[in-house]
Amino acid sequence: MFKDTVEGLGDVFATDVQPPMVIIVRGPPGSMKTTFVHNIMSTYLKDKDEFGLYTTLEESVRSHLRTIKSIGMDISLNMQISDFSELRKTHGDNIDKIDYLGFTEDLIKHFKGIYKDKFTVFAFDSLGALYSLMRGVETPQVVRKKIYHFFEMLRDQGLVSFIIMESTLDGESKLLGDEGFLSDGIVMLGLKRKQGKLHRYLQVEKMRATRHSMEMHAVEIRKSQFTVLGPIYED
Ligand SMILES: Nc1ncnc2c1ncn2[C@@H]1O[C@H](COP(=O)(O)OP(=O)(O)OP(=O)(O)O)[C@@H](O)[C@H]1O
Ligand SMILES: [Mg+2]
Repeated sequence: MFKDTVEGLGDVFATDVQPPMVIIVRGPPGSMKTTFVHNIMSTYLKDKDEFGLYTTLEESVRSHLRTIKSIGMDISLNMQISDFSELRKTHGDNIDKIDYLGFTEDLIKHFKGIYKDKFTVFAFDSLGALYSLMRGVETPQVVRKKIYHFFEMLRDQGLVSFIIMESTLDGESKLLGDEGFLSDGIVMLGLKRKQGKLHRYLQVEKMRATRHSMEMHAVEIRKSQFTVLGPIYED
């Protein structure tokens, strides 16, 4: 389903992912998480009679589009990008009480009602931003339960979902601890410093029911597209 969306991804995956699937895309700031997921979705949806929803909690739609345009990537018409600005406006002083996951679930069900089985891909950008907003409002136990329910709901809806998650530069994720087990796949986007230069890489840490490489693969933007190059060998 996605092997052919990003140049070189076919060398990382021997077999493709099958829906439903919840895939965590994790990495430090600037590791091109947003770019990668947007690129996969928009290329996948291009010229297809399907629909995709990209929700952005961290950035506004405007800022998201600016990132995409600066790289020169396409914006597909059958891909809706939604932020939560309207929701924040309507909540006024009660901004802390916003149930972002509940709202996202409603949004997904709304689009499922319209597009039915043609609604196939979903992205949530990002879980780190959600945790920051929920911190001090919900206990970790409640957050865990909500995430579990959210991932289950995504699978029930038959979607391939990309959940973006921040991590520190050395790869430590700001995870609660359970996301890794609850997800079907984890793709790490990393930054490696070598002789003073930063190198970007992609590594599949887990992908259920899929045959894939375990190597770090160098990645870069080529011809306005996220591109996976060959494996990197550590010295
Ligand atoms: N043509 C390009 N080639 C290489 N890198 C680029 C190019 N255009 C933008 N970038 C880099 O990509 C970054 C944007 O990537 P993106 O926003 O997808 O990262 P992210 O992992 O989602 O970051 P964040 O954690 O801030 O959300 C920019 O900060 C810039 O450093
Ligand atoms: Mg981002």
